[in-house]
Amino acid sequence: MASSSESHRPSERVLVVGATGVVGEEMLRVLSRRGHGGREIHAYASASSSGRTVRCGERLLPIEELSDSVFREGDLVLLGVDAALARRVAGHALRAGARVVDNSSAFRMDPAVPLVIPEVNPEDLLGSPPPTLIANPNCSTVMLLVALEPLRRAYGIEHVAVSTYQAVSGAGRSAMDELRDQTRAVLAGEEPKPRAFPLPCAFNVFPHESPIDLDSGANVEEQKLLAETRRIWRERDAAIDPSCTRVPVLRAHSQAVTATLGRPASLEEIRASLAACEGIRIVDDWPNGRFPTPLLATDQDAVLVGRIRRPLSEFDRPEPQRRRVSLWLSADQLLKGAALNAVQIAERAAWLPRFA
Ligand SMILES: NC(=O)c1ccc[n+]([C@@H]2O[C@H](COP(=O)([O-])OP(=O)(O)OC[C@H]3O[C@@H](n4cnc5c(N)ncnc54)[C@H](OP(=O)(O)O)[C@@H]3O)[C@@H](O)[C@H]2O)c1
Repeated sequence: MASSSESHRPSERVLVVGATGVVGEEMLRVLSRRGHGGREIHAYASASSSGRTVRCGERLLPIEELSDSVFREGDLVLLGVDAALARRVAGHALRAGARVVDNSSAFRMDPAVPLVIPEVNPEDLLGSPPPTLIANPNCSTVMLLVALEPLRRAYGIEHVAVSTYQAVSGAGRSAMDELRDQTRAVLAGEEPKPRAFPLPCAFNVFPHESPIDLDSGANVEEQKLLAETRRIWRERDAAIDPSCTRVPVLRAHSQAVTATLGRPASLEEIRASLAACEGIRIVDDWPNGRFPTPLLATDQDAVLVGRIRRPLSEFDRPEPQRRRVSLWLSADQLLKGAALNAVQIAERAAWLPRFA
C-alpha cells in the first residue's frame, strides 16, 4: 500500500475498468475534457470486448486484458463495473498500492470507506492516513444532495419528500439498447420483450426494478437514497422519503422534491442560495417554457434546478412562517451521478491535479 507521504503524489497512470460501459465511456470523456487526456490511460473491459477500442478525446485506446497484476503503486483506478467485480478488482488494486474510486454500491455503506460528493462533504477525503479507496454515491443521491446542499447550509433541512423519474441508462448500456429495441418493436405493432427490466420499459413507467423489502415496501433504490444521505450528512435521523420510478427516457434523471427547511426562508433567499452554489444551474423561466428536462440536462455537468416554488398548501401559512419549498431537478446521472463525480473526487484528493 502507498505510505501516507506518497498518498498525495499525483497518479501517473489512470486505469479505467469497465471502459466499454456507459459510465466507463463517460469517465474517459470526462478525463479528456478536464485536461487529463495526456496522461497514461489504460482501458479494461470483459474478455468479450478484447480487440475493441474506446475513445478518450482524440486518442483511441485498445481494450486491454484485465488481470490481477496490472496494478502498480500510485495508479489511479476508476471502477465502472458491477459491485461483485468491483470488490475483487479493488482488493487487487489496493494491495498493489493503487488508489481507487468505485462507482458501484460495493463500498458505499462501509464505514471505513468515504462516500463523497465534493460539493457536499469534501472533508471526508481528509484522514490520517488519507483514504486510498473512495466510493461514489448512487446517482439519485448525488443529484439530490447537490441541489439541497445550499439549503441545508443556510437553513437546515427537517424533511425531504422526493419522487424520482430515472432514465433507463441508470441500468447500463443493455438497458438503453432495450428501450430503443422495444420502442421500435411497439411502433411496428410487435410485443416488447423485457430483458434488462422485469416489465416493458417503452411507453411505460414502473417503480424502480430493484428488490423490495417486504416489511417496509421500499425498494433498494429508495433504501439507498435514505441510507447514503444519512452517511453523507452525518445525520443518523435525516428524514428523506423517496419514491423511485423508471421512465422511458434514455439519459438523465429527474426528481420532484419538496423540502421542509429548518427555519423560514423567502423564495428570494432560497433562489439566491441555490444560484450561488457550485454544481447547480438554475433553469426557472417557466412562463417561457424553460425548466429542467432530461434532454436539457444531457451532457451537462450541473444539476439543473427549476420550478422553485411553494407547495400549494404552504400558502395557508403567513409568509414569515413558510418553511417548505418545492423543486424540480434534472441531471445527467452518467456525469454528475457517476463519471464526473468520480473524476472530481480524484482531483479533490490530489491524485489527479486538474492543471498538471
Ligand atoms: N449507469 C448509471 O447511470 C450508473 C450511475 C452510477 C453508478 N453506476 C454503477 O457503475 C457501474 C457500471 O455501470 P454501467 O451502467 O456503466 O454498466 P454497463 O454499461 O453495463 O457496463 C459494465 C462494464 O463492465 C464491464 N465488465 C463486465 N464484466 C467484466 C469483467 N469480467 N472484467 C472487466 N470488465 C467487465 C463491461 O465490459 P463489456 O462491455 O466487455 O461487457 C462494461 O464495460 C455499476 O456498478 C453501476 O451500478 C451506474
